This record gives sequence, structure tokens and C-alpha cells, in this order.
Amino acid sequence: MSLHPDPYRAIDRQPDPSRYVKSLEARGETRSQTRLREHFLRFARVKPGWRVLEVGSGTGVICRDLGRIVGPRGAVVGVDPSRVFVEAARRLARTHGVGDRVRFVVGDGERLRFREGAFDAALAVTVLLHVPRALAVLREMIRVTRPGGIVGVQDQDFGTLALDHPDRALTRRILDGVAMKIYADPWSGRTLFGTLRRLGLRRVRLSTDVYQDTRLEPWTKSMLERRAEHAVALGLVGERQARRWLETLEAQARAGSFVLTLNFYGVVGVKPG
Ligand SMILES: C[S@@+](CC[C@H](N)C(=O)[O-])C[C@H]1O[C@@H](n2cnc3c(N)ncnc32)[C@H](O)[C@@H]1O
Repeated sequence: MSLHPDPYRAIDRQPDPSRYVKSLEARGETRSQTRLREHFLRFARVKPGWRVLEVGSGTGVICRDLGRIVGPRGAVVGVDPSRVFVEAARRLARTHGVGDRVRFVVGDGERLRFREGAFDAALAVTVLLHVPRALAVLREMIRVTRPGGIVGVQDQDFGTLALDHPDRALTRRILDGVAMKIYADPWSGRTLFGTLRRLGLRRVRLSTDVYQDTRLEPWTKSMLERRAEHAVALGLVGERQARRWLETLEAQARAGSFVLTLNFYGVVGVKPG
């Protein structure tokens, strides 16, 4: 069976899943991403001693931060459908000294194996845009959160990806063309505020943040390389065109004129009752 073009739908079936372990960890270490994550977790107001669930925990970047916030009296559970990610996340949590309070399980966000109200907070970070039935995941997150607890989501919105490149038409064909074809909802970020309100959460708040890169950081570079690869595979551009597009970006970075920005929408609400 042919693979869906979004690798995050089936990491374990990719030819080299370890590539995505490296990519998520590289993103986690990127300065502007660290700032985005810290802002979102402060905005979510997670407290020491809480039990927190992260759906779509990947290699555990957010869970490790959460482990430090909830402290030794709290507990964090990460759920992810990828066995490769769950194993990497367990190993990395131990290496980072939070293995005692952060645990990872293989599972699907649409069918969480936890009882109603089991958590003080349930979060999903850069997950929903990959998921065809995002509403089912959100409903599950609400179910497993206690009344008065927090449900929080943060997604980037690829309709806001701005990249300075002299060939604007080609840039649009690659960036918009690929995002529209691979993501369940490339514009998920901007929809989250309305969605959480419609699902009945109270005191829903939105905080919009911007990922900004002026240096062509390793994570940005690998993301743009994957976009170019996808654009060729999807027949949107030719191989030479894609290669030249990337070379121009690298030349811009060497000349100190590289600019890429991307909006991240963080939305947090309180479960009523
Ligand atoms: C871009 S990664 C984000 C990982 C992590 N939250 C972070 O920010 O580092 C998206 C994650 O969503 C997971 N995912 C995809 N479909 C899912 C589903 N139905 N339920 C839960 N997680 C899912 C993927 O396996 C992947 O780990």
C-alpha cells in the first residue's frame, strides 16, 4: 500500500523513521521554537503537582518541559501512535533526568485509554493539523480532563508561512502546493479558537506567536528540503527547479538576508462542570 505523503500520519512505516526523531529533536533545540514552547506552556498555566497528558508526544520534547514544570509530585503521560517515537521519548526522558515523572504509551488520540477526568490538563502541540479527525481527538482530550481542568492546543498554520525568495511564484507553488496536499488541515492553527469554543470549553484564550528564522537553522533547512522533495514527488516542480530553489535560499543565508516566519496559534480553555 502506498504511504500517505504526510510522514507524521505513519512514522513507523517510513523508510527511515529515525530521520523524524532527529528532526523533532532539532526543532526542539531551535531557539525560536524553545521560546514558542515556553510561551505556550506558561500561557496554559500548568501547575506543579499536576497530572498532564500530551497527545501526539513525538520524541517527548514537550513532555520533558512539562516534567520540569509539574515537578516530582506531578506526572506527565505522552501518547503517540509511533512505537519508534515512544521508545526514543522514553530514552530521552531518562537522559534528560525526568524519567521518574514522565511516561510514554503507544496509542491513538482518537481512542485514549484513560478514564474520564483522569488529568488536570490535556495538551496537543503541532498535532491536529496532521490528523484527519481532529475533532475526535479534541473530544477525547476533553473527556479525560477533570472538570475545571485545562485543554490546550497549539498548531502552526501553513497559510501564514512567509519566505523571502526572489522567485515568488515558484515559492508559492512549492510551499502552498505541498502543504495543501500533505496536511489534513494546513490552516488548522487559525481554526482552533472557534473550535474549542464550539466544543463547550469555558474561558477560551488565544495567543498567537511567530516562529522567526533569519539564519536558516538546521530544522528550517530540513523542513524546506522536505518541502522541495515533496514538491518533486507530487509533480509540482521539476528536480532541477527544486534544487535551484534551495540553493538560492542557502545563498541568501550566506549573504545574511534569509527570512522565514510562521504563525503558531495557542488556544487554551477550561472544561466546565
Ligand atoms: C509534528 S509531531 C509533534 C510532536 C510533539 N508534540 C512535538 O511538538 O515535538 C506530530 C505527532 O503527532 C502524532 N500523531 C499523528 N496522528 C496521531 C493521532 N491520531 N493521535 C495521536 N498522535 C498522533 C505523530 O506520530 C507525531 O508524533
